[in-house]
Amino acid sequence: MVKVTYVAADGTRTDVDAREGTSVMHAAVTHDVDGIVGECGGAMMCATCHCYVDADWQDRTGPRAEGEDDMLEGAASELTDRSRLSCQIKLTPDLNGLVVHLPEDQI
Ligand code: FES
Repeated sequence: MVKVTYVAADGTRTDVDAREGTSVMHAAVTHDVDGIVGECGGAMMCATCHCYVDADWQDRTGPRAEGEDDMLEGAASELTDRSRLSCQIKLTPDLNGLVVHLPEDQI
């Protein structure tokens, strides 16, 4: 299992033990974490899975996927250099303990 901490816009932290190989978006949706919608199911067609990777983890999550920049332009909340589509971050053992911050709005 890979532990992920989701930090809501109000500071509430939710820890999830997710299956290796699943995405940060899918782990949130299957564990009822508020703040991630994932409307398109991970097909990179909605931007309702926007998250901000914690600065300490940015190196390990790697660069944005091809096409991710364009889709993030449609995100409902402010974009930063830490913005990612959480459906494009696959959970590997190297990401155990990952912290992601959630935007105020997804829609
Ligand atoms: S779930 Fe739709 S872009 Fe990530």
